[in-house]
Amino acid sequence: MSDDHAVDLSVTWLGRAMPGCLYNASGVWCREEDELAALRASAAAALITKSATLAPRDGNPEPRYHPTPLGSINSMGLPNRGFDYYLDFARRYGDGGGKPLFLSLSGLTLDDNCAMLRRLAEAGLPALPEINLSCPNVPGKPQLGYDFGATAEALDAFDAAYPGLYGVKLPPYFDPAHFAAMAEILNRHRRLAFVTCINSIGNGLVVDVDSEAVVIKPKDGLGGLGGDYVLPTALANVREFCRLLPGKDVVGCGGVKSGREAFMHILAGARAVQVGTCLHQEGPGAFARIAAELAALMRAKGYRRLDDFRGRLRTL
Ligand code: SIN
Repeated sequence: MSDDHAVDLSVTWLGRAMPGCLYNASGVWCREEDELAALRASAAAALITKSATLAPRDGNPEPRYHPTPLGSINSMGLPNRGFDYYLDFARRYGDGGGKPLFLSLSGLTLDDNCAMLRRLAEAGLPALPEINLSCPNVPGKPQLGYDFGATAEALDAFDAAYPGLYGVKLPPYFDPAHFAAMAEILNRHRRLAFVTCINSIGNGLVVDVDSEAVVIKPKDGLGGLGGDYVLPTALANVREFCRLLPGKDVVGCGGVKSGREAFMHILAGARAVQVGTCLHQEGPGAFARIAAELAALMRAKGYRRLDDFRGRLRTL
């Protein structure tokens, strides 16, 4: 047996086993069935679909995604095939041979989110909902996760609409008072089993010096930042919500491009880790590479399992 095999990257959570800890961030490589099939065939340990609205959407005008040396800026505007498309995929996916399937939901209204949750519950599938409270890119629709009252109301409605375990994707928070306020709301909901931290840092502005212009068209150039820009903010959100949400899991998302950043997220407490910008740039082969790098780093440090170091970030 090689040393690689001595390291176990598997994760058990939400009552199921995942063969590894890495999967895609919603929005990347998951809008079309052929993309989801490529993820399934890759070393990704789970799949999450593009955030679905009730009806299909074309999204914002192009250009709406731009890679930069430090990551990416996007204002996609929720282009997706509509909830029925992803529900149908989930029906055919079944248990995915051990790779869990998450359905990302981003209804344009609370009623839309509840309608999708009810339909998912009626379908009786193993797919788990991750409700997106944090898309920064739909003009005229503020990020719900920054409105604590509306978030509390939404979670009450989700509880009523959906009888199973669910998760939410949060925007980044930047102040301890906001971590505490959001955690107090989330902790009132027993079946809220996980939070994904973080969505992109919303409404950044990338400027091209040569053209003296913005680089994406929607919202006069404002868009969500991903990649290196967001890693420290993502880690802070993972660590703080791990501390503040006992009994719930935190999924790390933000700035993962190698085994080192995956290690950092787990050290900060993440149960599993999503990959966004790097997956967009490299394709599904990124999962095997990052997993091998994480395994090599763990081996070098003498760790055999993720539990050996998860949440053990030291302070000074
Ligand atoms: C988008 O489609 O605009 C990205 C989704 C998100 O950031 O939640």
